[in-house]
Amino acid sequence: MIHYHRLGSVPPKNHVTHYEDGKLLMEQCVTRVGFESTYSILYYRTPPTDEFSVRSAELPGFCPVEPVVEQPLHRRHFRTQDLKADGDFLTARRTILMNDDVRVGICKPSQQAKDWFSNGDGDECWFAYDGGGILESVYGLLPFKKHDYVILPKGTPYRLHPEGGKGTFLVFESSSYIDLPKQFRNQSGQITMDAPYSHRDFRIPQEMLTFDEAKHGKGPYPLIVKHANRITVHEYRHFPWDLAGWDGIMYPVAFNIHDYQPKTGSVHLPPTVHITFAGRGFVICSFVPRKVDYFDRDGLKAIPCPYGHASVDCDEILYYVEGNFTSRKGIEAQSISLHPMGVPHGPHPGTYQRSIGTDRTGELAVMCDTFKPLLMTPLADTIEDKDYHFTWVKRESS
Ligand SMILES: [Fe+2]
Repeated sequence: MIHYHRLGSVPPKNHVTHYEDGKLLMEQCVTRVGFESTYSILYYRTPPTDEFSVRSAELPGFCPVEPVVEQPLHRRHFRTQDLKADGDFLTARRTILMNDDVRVGICKPSQQAKDWFSNGDGDECWFAYDGGGILESVYGLLPFKKHDYVILPKGTPYRLHPEGGKGTFLVFESSSYIDLPKQFRNQSGQITMDAPYSHRDFRIPQEMLTFDEAKHGKGPYPLIVKHANRITVHEYRHFPWDLAGWDGIMYPVAFNIHDYQPKTGSVHLPPTVHITFAGRGFVICSFVPRKVDYFDRDGLKAIPCPYGHASVDCDEILYYVEGNFTSRKGIEAQSISLHPMGVPHGPHPGTYQRSIGTDRTGELAVMCDTFKPLLMTPLADTIEDKDYHFTWVKRESS
């Protein structure tokens, strides 16, 4: 995803013999868009094609899931802080909002990871709200820390281990890819010098996974696969995910939101200036502590608080992490606000005026803009603050 990388043992050329202890390894080319786009080449000790059983399953709250049928158009606020921790990184996944391009969920595991998972529908992006851990995948071990984004390519078998088995994650599940926006690459694929990050800010697996019976069990080894909004369990007799090596440009990466380099204008810049990742039909943006707009001339001052906004082509969600949220009241950490296309939105009364003359904001938040409407799931309906749409009216009259 970021640049070419090689880890473990690979032969000097693609598609030639490669032995380990006299045994021929199985080369597996993981390719995107047929054979037209990015790829990595993996060397399996045990072929990943020798499953002995295949069966259907379900993961309640995650897959399959359908949106609520009756949902009138208005601004919404979901209190994800009210969701209880339950299950592991996989069984604790809950989808909150969805459209054809992206699904937004919350995962609050309360126990150590058990089964392996592979998302065959698209890339995933995990945002670690409150702690770190380690991602175990066929590409090796990738430690992550609090406030990291962890990007996982489609079809990657993995387990995610939060420290102590507990954590809170915001999870984006794309129907396509999640990558750096094209404008942050030059013609050679290098990240441009005016991008909000550099190659050095992205962390990549540096150690291959080693099979350990105490850690991985005696088998069989189930792989939970999501594809076409269905769950299927594939079972192996041999542990298939301790590879000899791999190389290529597709692999998991970690990026900490605090390494995002924000831009400030003399007057307020649009939220797209915070863009961090992009997928088909959506973008993910990072709002980090920063200096704010500074225009001050001829008696005119910049208004640092975001202006009122009719986002006629986008639904906008914000996941609030920490700090002061200059434009919103009644919002707490872990809240998700949804401001859909079709109705205008803007700062709560009072916040706009109070922002004049301020020089910094300490807000930390993750935003996602989608070009198709986001619909809430039945679980989202149960944690919605039903009065949110009218908080602008109530505060004006108070
Ligand atoms: Fe907006």
